[in-house]
Amino acid sequence: PVLVVDFGAQYAQLIARRVREAGRYSEVVPHSMPVERMLAKEPAAIVLSGGPSSVYADEAPSVDKALFEAGVPVLGICYGFQAMALALGGEVAHTGQREYGGTMARVQPEGSTLFYGQVDEQSVWMSHGDSVHAAPEGFRVTGETVGTPVAAFEDDERKLYGLQWHPEVVHSTFGQRVMENFLVRGAGLEPTWTTEGVAEELVERVREQIGDAHVICGLSGGVDSSVAAALVQKAVGDQLTCVFVDHGLLRAGEAEQVERDFVEATGVDLKVVDATKQFLDALAGLTDPEEKRKAIGREFIRVFEQAAREVVGEAESDGHPVKFLVQGTLYPDVVESGGGEGAANIKSHHNVGGLPDDLQFSLIEPLRTLFKDEVRAVGREIGVPEPIVARQPFPGPGLGIRIVGEVTAERLEILRAADLIVREELTAAELDSAIWQCPVVLLADVRSVGVQGDGRTYGHPIVLRPVSSEDAMTADWSRLPYDVLAKISTRITNEVAEVNRVVLDITSKPPGTIEWE
Ligand code: XMP
Repeated sequence: PVLVVDFGAQYAQLIARRVREAGRYSEVVPHSMPVERMLAKEPAAIVLSGGPSSVYADEAPSVDKALFEAGVPVLGICYGFQAMALALGGEVAHTGQREYGGTMARVQPEGSTLFYGQVDEQSVWMSHGDSVHAAPEGFRVTGETVGTPVAAFEDDERKLYGLQWHPEVVHSTFGQRVMENFLVRGAGLEPTWTTEGVAEELVERVREQIGDAHVICGLSGGVDSSVAAALVQKAVGDQLTCVFVDHGLLRAGEAEQVERDFVEATGVDLKVVDATKQFLDALAGLTDPEEKRKAIGREFIRVFEQAAREVVGEAESDGHPVKFLVQGTLYPDVVESGGGEGAANIKSHHNVGGLPDDLQFSLIEPLRTLFKDEVRAVGREIGVPEPIVARQPFPGPGLGIRIVGEVTAERLEILRAADLIVREELTAAELDSAIWQCPVVLLADVRSVGVQGDGRTYGHPIVLRPVSSEDAMTADWSRLPYDVLAKISTRITNEVAEVNRVVLDITSKPPGTIEWE
């Protein structure tokens, strides 16, 4: 793999994604990992990420010089660049002056590995306090900015490279080209990470893991569980049984997409449990968001457990014990819970999801090396229907947390109708890929006066919450075109009788969250 050494910034995962986009498999490892263990992974190249701290701060993570002497090509970025400079005898000045945001860099493409084939002035994105003032011996300085005289250096002999700015963010216009140049020209790596190859490898690995045991999978209708189930189906066919708990809190058409389209496309054996009434009963009288979430979670476990017991019972009576539970865990979750080292493994082999002790399964997590966009690509490769693969994030508790107030069947109908209109219009305007997601929220306990035809109305508001985001941790409200908003507003107030007002949520996250509850 290409190892991305995480110095504690949020950029490590982004770097790992960029490396994969350049066609090489990458893994994030913590900076605290001893160099011998990093080298034991036989990295084809190493990228040192940025980090929040100054190299001179107390407890600032340093880099063991041995990392640069192993003959493995290394690219240091931002903090990683400075730590590299310091480890190899360069000079890093603690200026105390922050350079933050977009700036212009002057680079020397001539004879350069990183900047080969690029223009000599490029926009780059910076975020640092300290600066490298003198490159270590053997390095050639190939980039500078107004505030930073040594902003890029290269040593082709030792295959060591560094950059003060962040090539992984889109605001650095040649960033991806720099990454590719490092991997291909610097490290001599050809692209091998292709969707087709990945899908085949995952299927093969799952087949080995499962052997002739039986497997169960909870299907939510979301991208992750659907692609995970489809992969396992490809690997072991009818040894897999999927359980779909329809909690009645999905959007219009989604249950059908799972029950009909997904089954048709993938051939999975699906057990559908219609628990709509049970969930509505559990939600009756509840208005507090946390209580609603807890009730939905509790009910979900109860229903899934019951269904799982039945699946286990049937399989066992046929002489096939169910040993595994499929989960759609993604790579970011793995990294965040310890990078697949130690703690994370212990957790994943233990009882999961609140299932009781007598329902013990080991986990099969076929997507645990993949990022979301890769999951989508694999899903397409193995024939998961497009509406499911392209689905934007949707919370597990569903529309239950998009009705502010008590959840009832009537209110769900109102919200479903409004939500469908929003989705139709966003798709018609080709805005689906421009936004991260667009929750549609019903303020069920709020009423306002309106006028329609000749009469006074006293209806509910619908809130539109379109956001753009990279990872849902932070988000900004999407500047949707006014004519699209106008069309949505007109259609909702005309077509959904109980709604007489449509409002737009213009709060970023933080301080707002994406969902209202
Ligand atoms: P918030 O509202 O916390 O949402 O800004 C961040 C992202 O997470 C989704 N979300 C959930 N997803 N179960 C989920 O699977 C949940 O309980 C849940 N709550 C929020 C939300 O849609 C957004 O993408």
